[in-house]
Amino acid sequence: MISKSITEALNKRINEELYSSYLYMSMASHSHTLGLKGFANWFEIQAQEEMLHAQKFYHYVLDQGEKVILDAIDKPPSDFKSPIDLFEETLDHENKVTAAINQVVELAAKENDHATSIMLQWFVTEQIEEVATTNDIIQQLKLVGSDGSGLYMIDRQLATRTLPQNTGQN
Ligand code: FEO
Repeated sequence: MISKSITEALNKRINEELYSSYLYMSMASHSHTLGLKGFANWFEIQAQEEMLHAQKFYHYVLDQGEKVILDAIDKPPSDFKSPIDLFEETLDHENKVTAAINQVVELAAKENDHATSIMLQWFVTEQIEEVATTNDIIQQLKLVGSDGSGLYMIDRQLATRTLPQNTGQN
C-alpha cells in the first residue's frame, strides 16, 4: 500500500517518462532528416527505454493496489539547432528528470515508504548512467567540431546502440 501523495507523484512520473519517450522520438525523427541514421537509432533506443521506465512505474503503482491515471502528454519540440544541440537538450532534460526523481525519493523517505524507496533506487542509478553517457557523447561531438568525417564516425558509433538486457523490468 502506498499513500495518496506517493501515488500522485508516481502517476506524474509515468507522464514524464512518456514525455521523455516522445521527446526522444522527435529527436530521432529530426536526426533522420539530417541523414544521421546512427543518431536516429540512438534516440529511438532511448525512446524505447523511456517507455520501459514508464511501464516500470505503471506496474509498481498497480502492484501496490492503486490506479494509474494517464494524463495528456506535452508536445515535444520538433526543431533542433544542430547535432550537438540534440545531446545538449538531452542532458538538460535528463538533469531535470534526475531532480524530479530525487524529489520522489525525498517524499518516500519522509513517509517512511521503504518499498517505494527501494524501487526508486533503480532509477537513481539509471539517471547516473544516462547523464554520464550523454556527457560522453557531447564531449566527443565537441572534439570533432564541424569536421564532417568525425561526425560520420560518431554517427556510425551511435548506430551500434541496442536495447540493454537489464531494462529494469520485473
Ligand atoms: Fe527515464 Fe531518461 O530517464
